[in-house]
Amino acid sequence: MRDFKRISVRRMTKRFGDKTAVDDFSIEFGKEEFVTFLGPSGCGKSTALNCITGLIPITSGEIYIDDECIDDAKTSVPPEKREFGMVFQNYALFPHLTVKENVAFGLKLRKLPKTEVEKRVDDALRLVHLEGYATKFPSQMSGGEQQRVAIARCIVLEPRLLLLDEPLSNLDAKLRVELRYELKALHERLKVTTIYVTHDQAEALALSDRIVVLKLGRIQQVGSPQTVFTKPANPFVADFVGYKNAWKGKIEVLKENGGTLGASVRTKGALIETKLSYPEGDPRRDAIIAAYKSGGSVTTAIRPEDIAVIGQGEGAARGEGNVIRCVADLVEYQGHANSISACIKGCEGERVDLHSASDIAFGEAFEACVDPEKVLVFAMPEASPARSAP
Ligand SMILES: Nc1ncnc2c1ncn2[C@@H]1O[C@H](COP(=O)(O)OP(=O)(O)OP(=O)(O)O)[C@@H](O)[C@H]1O
Ligand SMILES: [Mg+2]
Repeated sequence: MRDFKRISVRRMTKRFGDKTAVDDFSIEFGKEEFVTFLGPSGCGKSTALNCITGLIPITSGEIYIDDECIDDAKTSVPPEKREFGMVFQNYALFPHLTVKENVAFGLKLRKLPKTEVEKRVDDALRLVHLEGYATKFPSQMSGGEQQRVAIARCIVLEPRLLLLDEPLSNLDAKLRVELRYELKALHERLKVTTIYVTHDQAEALALSDRIVVLKLGRIQQVGSPQTVFTKPANPFVADFVGYKNAWKGKIEVLKENGGTLGASVRTKGALIETKLSYPEGDPRRDAIIAAYKSGGSVTTAIRPEDIAVIGQGEGAARGEGNVIRCVADLVEYQGHANSISACIKGCEGERVDLHSASDIAFGEAFEACVDPEKVLVFAMPEASPARSAP
């Protein structure tokens, strides 16, 4: 493997006709890093991955390995010369070849001596825990085993960059978690620079050094799992990592107290008092202050598990702030807690989603309380003025 320090993607854009699948995408991958592209279906994850591997041509932008340009308007190094390895969702094994022959395939194309091929194939199969499977055919193996073969076939070539496109999504929930642990252990051991694509936030959080959140082909946030999970950059990322309860409103009172902002947000359904840990320099803080000054709209983001059911009448004792009066219209038992979706009383169309161990019945009226320190508030982009006709 030729060594490198970083792979840089600069302003990469991919259009299919008038559809922009990847839009002005820039990121650097450090050596040995594990980076995940996370986003909903159709947000451009696979397209970005395929552009980086060279499987589909980019419309504009540049890709570099250190100072060597591998893709731009003039250059396009073919996929096999990039020394990247790709693992697909559907395994893409050769059905007529045995496990051993599948894994050896790329090494034989490189015309390596037979003894070296044998040793490297054995090592790769051991790494993915498939010793003893060498003579089986893919059709004789489970989905999880086949995906291990696909991973072995890739790592045996010692790629500079390993790219995995939703490799676990065809597996059942238990196997997905098992193979996720194995991938993590494999990365710890081989330290191969990896780009991993998923729409599953649990996978992204468990595996990644950094997460890139995508929406409509554009990067929304790049950060560590902890940053993305606790400090989402905008309402889209917040929703994607589990902050629901997006209630639009206006800030009535704003108190600045060092690194904390106390914003009282009047929404349709309740007055939400918050303690926002947005330190100076955090763009979310500047946007909140600007929204307060201009009377602009904001939206809350609150995890269902951070809203608690309170006893009947307790709300009146607490006063108005952070008490929500609601009527349950969906209650799902989920083992550790009930997942409850409820209408907010007196506010048509406004809903609250919460998790609670309390036994709330369908149609039951109840009161819930929000923890001020667990609320996020985002300034809403103001609608741009209508353009005049040319
Ligand atoms: N060959 C193509 N021709 C036209 N449009 C395409 C093509 N490939 C992808 N697209 C469009 O580009 C967008 C991004 O697609 P992409 O496959 O990259 O999404 P994704 O994030 O990988 O989604 P999924 O999670 O469903 O795999 C989609 O709107 C898709 O319809
Ligand atoms: Mg995809």
